[in-house]
Amino acid sequence: MKVLLTGGAGYIGSHTCVELINSGYEPVIADNLSNSSIKVLDRIEKITGKKPIFYEIDVADFDSLDKLFFEQDIDAVIHFAGYKAVGESYMFPVKYYRNNINTTLTLLDVMKKHGVNKIVFSSSATVYGIPKTTPCLDETMPTCCANPYGWTKLFVEQILRDTATAEKEFSVVLLRYFNPIGAHESGLIGDNPNGIPNNLMPYITQVAVKKLPYLRVFGNDYNTKDGTGVRDYIHVVDLARGHLKALEYADKHNGTEVFNLGTGNGCSVLDVVNAFSKANDMEIPYQICDRRPGDIDEYFANPKKANEILNWKAEFDLFDMCRDSWNWQKNNKNGYDD
Ligand code: WQD
Repeated sequence: MKVLLTGGAGYIGSHTCVELINSGYEPVIADNLSNSSIKVLDRIEKITGKKPIFYEIDVADFDSLDKLFFEQDIDAVIHFAGYKAVGESYMFPVKYYRNNINTTLTLLDVMKKHGVNKIVFSSSATVYGIPKTTPCLDETMPTCCANPYGWTKLFVEQILRDTATAEKEFSVVLLRYFNPIGAHESGLIGDNPNGIPNNLMPYITQVAVKKLPYLRVFGNDYNTKDGTGVRDYIHVVDLARGHLKALEYADKHNGTEVFNLGTGNGCSVLDVVNAFSKANDMEIPYQICDRRPGDIDEYFANPKKANEILNWKAEFDLFDMCRDSWNWQKNNKNGYDD
C-alpha cells in the first residue's frame, strides 16, 4: 500500500514513516522543508534500510501535488503538513489559517481528482479547549479552541467530516494527539524545534545539553497534585504506530471517526523533570516562574476508544520517553544541523 505523508519529514511524520516502512508500506513524503530537514531521509534509510520517495513541494500548490499523484499510485494519505506553534499562531493568525486550511483544501481537490478517498488527519487534543467537567477527555466531549492553531485543527476536522458526508466512499480518521515526546530508540530522528523550544521536553533536553541554563516551570499554583501543569505525554513511536492502526481502520470503513491518542496518565511538569533526572542520571536545574498565558491546569486522554476499536495501546512509559528524548538530543546537540 502506497501512503502519501504530507509533512512527512517532520517530527511525527518521520517516526510514522519508519513504522510504515517496517510494516511493509510504501511511504511517499511531500514536504516543503519549511520546518524540517532533508537529512531526515538519510536517517530514515539508516534505520529501515529504505529511503522513502520524497517530493519537495508545497502541498497547497495544486500543480505540484497533482504531478505527485500522477507519478505515484497513492492509496491513502496521512496529512501532517501544517504550522504548529501555538504562540506564533496568536501573532500570525492569517498565516496559520491560510497555510493549514489551504493545504487541506488542495489536498482534497487532488485526492478527488485521482480517486483517492482514505485520509488520516493529524489533529490535536487542543481542540477540547478548557475542560468543563473532568480533565479526563473522551471523544464525545465538546470542542472549542483557545488559540488560532487549535482552530485550524478544528476547522480542518470539520472540512474533512463534511467531505466524508458528501462523498459516500470517503473515509476519514481524525487522530487527536495529546503531548508527543520521545524519539526513535536509534537516536537518529527526533524533535528538532527552530530556535528556543516552546514545548517542555525539548526545553528540558536543551537544558541537559547545556544550551539553556535552566528550565522555567510555568506556574506552581495550578489546581493539580503538585501545583504544576498536568498533561498526557505520549511516546512518539506509540503515536506513530497509532497511525498504522488508523490506516487499517480507514481501509475498512467509510465516514468519519475520531480517536484520542494518549496514554491516559496525567503527569505534572515536576513528574517529567524527576523522571528525566532518574532515567538519565542527571539533575535538571529549574526555577518556578509565572504562569504561561493560555495554559490549562490539567488534562489527559481517555484512550479507551482507540484501545478497543483500533486495538491500539501506548506501550512506552514516561521513563522510556525521557531516556529516548535524551538519547536523541545528546547525539544531535544541534538537531539535524550537526
Ligand atoms: C506542557 C506543560 C507548560 C514549557 C502544546 C500545544 C498542543 C500540542 C502540544 C502540537 C505545561 C509546562 C512548558 C516550559 C513549562 N501541540 N512548560 N516550561 O502547552 O500542553 O501543548 O504542545 O503541535 O496543541 O498546545 O505543551 O510542552 O508546551 O507544555 O513549565 O518551558 O509544561 O506550562 O504545563 P502544551 P508544552
